[in-house]
This record gives sequence, C-alpha cells and structure tokens, in this order.
Amino acid sequence: MPRISYVNGLYVPLRDAALPIEDRGCQFADAVYEVLPVAGGRVCHLEQHLDRLGRSLAALSIAWPVSRRVMPVILGEVARRSRLTDGVLYLQVSRGAAHRSHPFPAGIPSSLVVYGWPQKGPSAAMLAEGVAVITRPDERWRRPDIKTVGLLANVLARQAAKEAGAYEAWLVNGEGQVTEGSATNAFIVDAEGRIVTHPTDSHILGGVTRSNLLDLARRAGMALAERPFTVAEASAAREAFLSSSTVMLLPVVRIDGRPVGDGRPGPVAARLRALYQEMRGR
Ligand code: PDD
Repeated sequence: MPRISYVNGLYVPLRDAALPIEDRGCQFADAVYEVLPVAGGRVCHLEQHLDRLGRSLAALSIAWPVSRRVMPVILGEVARRSRLTDGVLYLQVSRGAAHRSHPFPAGIPSSLVVYGWPQKGPSAAMLAEGVAVITRPDERWRRPDIKTVGLLANVLARQAAKEAGAYEAWLVNGEGQVTEGSATNAFIVDAEGRIVTHPTDSHILGGVTRSNLLDLARRAGMALAERPFTVAEASAAREAFLSSSTVMLLPVVRIDGRPVGDGRPGPVAARLRALYQEMRGR
C-alpha cells in the first residue's frame, strides 16, 4: 500500500515526510490532533471531527492551517493516494515552527500534517469476551477537553494497563470518580439500568463516538445520565463499556481484576454497538 502523507501543502511518501525540529508541536506539545475513522473508503463523522478541531484550535488561538472547507479535500486525497479503505486518518495542526521561545511567535503559519494507516476493528474475541481495565490516578493537565498532542500522562496510564494485561486505564480524579480512559470514554450501566458517563466539561475529551452513542441511546429510548461515577459504583455496575473512533464500543468485563456484573459483556453494550454499526453502515 502506498503511504502518502500531506505536509504543509505537499503530498509526500510517508518515509520522506518531515517537520522542522523547532516545530512547536515537538518542543511544547503546542499542537492539536484528530483521529478520523475511514470505513469503506469514506471518512466517518467528518463534520463532527472538524467541529472539535475548530474548538481545539480556538481554545489555543491557533489559526486554521488551511480553511475548514479545504480540510476534507486533503483528508480525502491522502486516503485516496494511500488507497486507504478501512483504517484511520491522523491529522495534526501545530502553531508552527519558530526559534524556541515560550510566547506565541508572530507571523508564522500553523503547520498541518495528515497521514493514515489501515486498521482493523477489535477482534471477534474482544467483542465476545469483553476487555479488562485498570484504574489509575488522572494525572493529566486540567484541560483534557482540548485534544492536544500533550499525551504523556495518557501514554503512562495506557502502558500501565498494558503491563497489567488490561486493555485500557480508567483515569480517576481526586474524588474517586472515573473521568475517562487514556484514549477512550468510559460508561457504566447502573443498578437501575441507566447508561452513566461523565458529562462533557473541561475534565474529559468530548468523544465523537461518545456523543453519537448517547444520541442513539436517546433515540432508542434507553435511559441515560451524564454524571460522574465512582470506581466503587463501576465495580458494582451491571455493565461497563468504553468508546472511541477506533474501537467504536467495547464491553468492559473486569475493573482492577474484579468482574463487572457476571463478568460477561451485557445486553446494553451489545444493543448500543449494534445501533452504532448500523448508523456507520449507512
Ligand atoms: N483517542 N478520550 C480520550 C482521552 C481520547 O484520546 C479519545 C480518542 C477519546 C474518544 O474520542 P473519539 O470517540 O472522538 O475517538 C476519549 C484517539 C482515538 C487517539 O488518541 O488515538
């Protein structure tokens, strides 16, 4: 498969793609990103991802590197040139490259990189059996709602999960509440059968998948509550699951080694995943 990337106006083979070492994304994590799923050659939920990109850029006063109108053309072109039909596109915008100095540099263009790779969804076994999560302190900065590339705390939490043989780390704040996962949003189904997930405030990244799942649940008449839940509540929940663009929805069957409910994926997660797949298929 040809791997073609876009770097500031040029389509180049991925192996030749490069940014200046003084790109502010490298030195200050002064950059934002999006991961967009591609299914059947089509970029999914494009407008929602561009809306969120716009919010991240605005929050950091980074200018759009190209107009929003042009972004779908570049994304489509990278997918086409890379013959990407099923996988993801990665898009990163930094404030640009300038002599290293903390304040915003004047008069430099922001920088845009896009590339993609083929990726399969979760295995049949992961869907049938569910996955395990561990809990870790939420050590991120206080604005994880902005999708910046400053992901070190997320990386450390995910590595801890991997070393513990778990799929994901659920991040826990000072009040014992689960905010979200290192790269996924977190949900439980409480004793009354309500889907519960942390509200979209400054403490979590507002996932595109999360938002679409909640819309589908509402339309299907499923009960839900956007409120924080504690680790204790999650451990006593009927069901738990997580979501992201890359996995859609995955059932969570163990938290810190203890089974959730009967330790098997539950009916609410299965129903929502089916609704979501049906929507994506359209
Ligand atoms: N992660 N929370 C965090 C901290 C995330 O990094 C992500 C996405 C999500 C889910 O968002 P969405 O449904 O829009 O994918 C929630 C991407 C996939 C990543 O960094 O690879």
